[in-house]
Amino acid sequence: MRAVHFTDAGGPEVVEVQRVEIPEPQPGEVLVKVAAAGLNRADVAQRAGLYPPPPGAGDIPGLEVSGTIVSSGPGVHQGMGYDDGSEVCALLAGGGYAEYVAVPAAQTVPVPAGVSLEDAAGLPEVAATVWSNVVMEAGLQAGEWLLVHGGSGGIGSAAIQIMKAYGAHVAVTGGSEEKLDYARELGADVAINYREQDFVEEVRRATSEREVPGADVILDVVGAKYLARNLEVLSTSGRLAVIGFVGGKRAELDLGLLAKKRAKVIATTLRARPAEEKARIMQEVREHVWPMLTHKHLKVTTDRVFGLEEAREAHEYFDSGEHRGKVLLAID
Ligand SMILES: NC(=O)c1ccc[n+]([C@@H]2O[C@H](COP(=O)([O-])OP(=O)(O)OC[C@H]3O[C@@H](n4cnc5c(N)ncnc54)[C@H](OP(=O)(O)O)[C@@H]3O)[C@@H](O)[C@H]2O)c1
Repeated sequence: MRAVHFTDAGGPEVVEVQRVEIPEPQPGEVLVKVAAAGLNRADVAQRAGLYPPPPGAGDIPGLEVSGTIVSSGPGVHQGMGYDDGSEVCALLAGGGYAEYVAVPAAQTVPVPAGVSLEDAAGLPEVAATVWSNVVMEAGLQAGEWLLVHGGSGGIGSAAIQIMKAYGAHVAVTGGSEEKLDYARELGADVAINYREQDFVEEVRRATSEREVPGADVILDVVGAKYLARNLEVLSTSGRLAVIGFVGGKRAELDLGLLAKKRAKVIATTLRARPAEEKARIMQEVREHVWPMLTHKHLKVTTDRVFGLEEAREAHEYFDSGEHRGKVLLAID
């Protein structure tokens, strides 16, 4: 089969399509003929040599796909919900930029009604990241305020829509007026230009009617650079969920202020979670997020689709930061 490999650690020039063996589904796994694969920031980090795949994941990049089940490994039988011919999307530990991928059956879910097989490729990673961090870890409740840094990216654009449909108020940060308009179109209540405005001030202004102004939950992709200000803008009993480190990994934390606010700092990475946890997250996503798609409270945000042979161009485009929403590779 054709699959993408990184020939070295580096820029898009190391992205190459090679021929490799089709993987064998192991016990509990299904083999998926891939229709499309989603690009994620983690793929870029892997390409740069900064994010090695977890043990057993192999070198082929790609954390999410859509496609058709074509066979299954020992322990997966027809009638268990993972039948040959079923159209699914899947959360992976790697291997998605390829014609076929083997994945634990429990990490696949049916393509949501009303979504095309191709578009479905861009859903598993963002939906699982947003739902597991904002709801399962940080416990956001309907009526609370969520602040999302990077509101126009793949994660951010899903977070706005899912959490608005969930009943939360959503504030976002972004780097340009065009990106902020996009976030507003997706339903953001407050959109803050981080190049020109102070997000602490803006969130406090938007929540000034509350007893303790501030955000209840923050979904943060910036990390160290924002830690102090994130803590400052949290309301009482606020929860900060850090999922990205574009602004560094090391910073000083004011434990006194954390204690005074009875706040929590959480940090997770989805890729490193054991298969059982990923399966549980995908079940919750299927139960809570998929109906939002079916009822049109959430729309897919495919920005651009490249062919597998254009994987290098897709990485160049992703690196440029021009995209809004998801970038996909269509495999056929
Ligand atoms: N921990 C996990 O399990 C997990 C899972 C998936 C993704 N992630 C992380 O989540 C992040 C977003 O992923 P993605 O796929 O959505 O990437 P993406 O589509 O490229 O989005 C990146 C976003 O980061 C924003 N950003 C960069 N610098 C910023 C700053 N100083 N302040 C506010 N926003 C800033 C960008 O906003 P502008 O373009 O407006 O500057 C952009 O919206 C990545 O760091 C990724 O590694 C983590």
